[in-house]
Amino acid sequence: MSMRRFVAVLSFCSLSWMSACNGEPEAVSDTILVGEYGSLSGSEATFGQSTHDGILLAIDEINAAGGLKGKKLEVKTYDDQGKTQEAGTAVTRLITEDHVVAVLGEVASSLSIAGGRVSQNYNVPMISPSSTNAQVTEIGDMISRVCFIDSFQGYVVGKFAYDHLKARRVAVMFDQGQAYSTGLKDDFIREYTAIGGEIAGEPQAYTAGDQDFSAQLNAIAALQPDAVFLPGYYTDVATISIQARRAGITAPLLGGDGWDSSQLAQIAGESIEGSYYSNHYSHQDTSPAVQDFVKKYQAKYNKTPDGLAALGYDATKILFDAMERSPSLDGKDLAAAIAATKNFQGVTGLISMDENRNAIKPAVIVKMQGGIPTYVTTIYPKGTEPAPTEVPPVTPPTADTAAPVEPATAPH
Ligand code: PHE
Repeated sequence: MSMRRFVAVLSFCSLSWMSACNGEPEAVSDTILVGEYGSLSGSEATFGQSTHDGILLAIDEINAAGGLKGKKLEVKTYDDQGKTQEAGTAVTRLITEDHVVAVLGEVASSLSIAGGRVSQNYNVPMISPSSTNAQVTEIGDMISRVCFIDSFQGYVVGKFAYDHLKARRVAVMFDQGQAYSTGLKDDFIREYTAIGGEIAGEPQAYTAGDQDFSAQLNAIAALQPDAVFLPGYYTDVATISIQARRAGITAPLLGGDGWDSSQLAQIAGESIEGSYYSNHYSHQDTSPAVQDFVKKYQAKYNKTPDGLAALGYDATKILFDAMERSPSLDGKDLAAAIAATKNFQGVTGLISMDENRNAIKPAVIVKMQGGIPTYVTTIYPKGTEPAPTEVPPVTPPTADTAAPVEPATAPH
């Protein structure tokens, strides 16, 4: 490169958006390129596919409304096949070859940790739509997420098991190779025992892709727990649920967001009926934000959006909102604008970033009924429960309701 050309490149970079300048200068383009990495294939394939569908729907809408100051948003997507190594490579390529201004992904926490380290090194902002393990955003200031984290999710499932199901002894079986699963296991145990629950026996470990879970399930069956907590991903959970019923476990199975896939009921059938998991949204939520999204998604894809689709959509909209507020598309500026997100009305709730770039939001509990995750309840972070919007009407007690059905305290 001649000296004059070098100077020209430098001034181009300092005068315009730096992110276009990771390598050779590019012709000024009328598009803004965003990167995405996800599991479009492999045993977590629906995670990547649903997220991708949500991202594309958001980009369509952004571009239809004029894009960013007339520039269209475009997304470059790599399939990491659900593999940690591939995730790191995908993010490296997005940044060094494709020169994306920001990265969307991943779903699985272990993969977001691998990709996030790369993003942080290159000072390119990354938003994980759905990775809930604490370590993801601990990587650094370039990394944020639009979902809640697992310390909250552990509390949600623990509280639901104890208060709603009245479960007092819960057995635990987890995937020892996933940061998500090992972390959520610990979070659940801490939160559930803090409110008085007991863990039945030792947590049983498995590894993703195992086919025979009988040793762990026979041990759990012998303990006769009130419920079994399975913080894993849907493919393994489906197989485990089938084998759990064969091992004689009739108690409900409980899970976290990793169960969220249409494949869960497809594979597990009857075995998963009556079980519960926590998630980021319910397609049955009657709020306008959710129903509007469900309608648009169904029109485009002819299927019901799962939580991942909703989070992919929200992550993209939040990235765009930050781009509009940011003084430039330089990585540091853009990351700061993302971190400053407050009260953004997403499909998955009102999204504000806390000081660690994690979103503080409620979770829903759904019950598998007829193969459909059916809304049961919403659980809020401590201290953020909405005030009741109206005072319940006062009706005089009738003969039926005057006396409590059950004594308020157990008889001595
Ligand atoms: N929270 C999971 C993880 O961190 C990923 C996930 C999110 C899966 C939402 C399904 C639905 O690994």
